[in-house]
Amino acid sequence: MVDIHSHFLPGIDDGAQSAEQSMSMVQMAWRHGTKILVASPHADVQFRYDPDNVDRLLDEARAAAPAGIRLVRACDFHLMADNIEAALHHPARYTIDGKCYLLMELSDLTIFANTSDLWSRLEDAGMRIILTHPERNPLLRQRIELIEQWVSQGRYMQLTASSLLGLFGPKALAFSRLLLDRGLAHFVASDAHDLRSRPPRLDLAYQWLSSHYSEELARLLCVDHPLAAVDGAPLDLSSFPPSPASPKPSFLRRLLGRRSDS
Ligand SMILES: [Fe+2]
Repeated sequence: MVDIHSHFLPGIDDGAQSAEQSMSMVQMAWRHGTKILVASPHADVQFRYDPDNVDRLLDEARAAAPAGIRLVRACDFHLMADNIEAALHHPARYTIDGKCYLLMELSDLTIFANTSDLWSRLEDAGMRIILTHPERNPLLRQRIELIEQWVSQGRYMQLTASSLLGLFGPKALAFSRLLLDRGLAHFVASDAHDLRSRPPRLDLAYQWLSSHYSEELARLLCVDHPLAAVDGAPLDLSSFPPSPASPKPSFLRRLLGRRSDS
């Protein structure tokens, strides 16, 4: 699997707080099937993003990491004026592995009326927008039509693995399912911050998607699409979402269905 969103680098944001914790997160991801792990430290008002420092920390992590995992740079790009200007001047310092995909985080408190226009400026400079965890944003949960519009304009949505497991509450889970049902979710990533409450366990989301939807969808969201993002390649959405798009019926519904058949 390819995990495009995590905070495992130590001491630069609210993710890993020590080199030991950082390496334990990398090892946990690797043990559970992650082959590429993207470091995406916050780039916002609270946490200043310094790509040179991130590269230095990544080199240290690579030297200590298991041979079977590749560590890649990106950032958790908060939509704000300073970030936009900086990214327009140096896109590769902000995008995933210096290619074209940009992990985009919106405020929980307001959605700028000109959000789409701001994204268009970034897209005109060659970047592609992946909106992170819309299911955890209370404003966006009330505005699915906005997400539909953005997706129709070529923007992508990334769900959080833990949201699918219910760890961000019933509203985040329900909205995740709504986006999945409508083919509006293109990526799942761990957004890991530590080993316990927000661990780098993309495998659990893969299993959840396989059992609630299909293995094909799990593979697209946890492997194929994220790999394309790391490579800077276009997503193949010609037959997305795969059929059946609808979720598998629950055990109770299957049971009731059998009874009504007989
Ligand atoms: Fe994040």
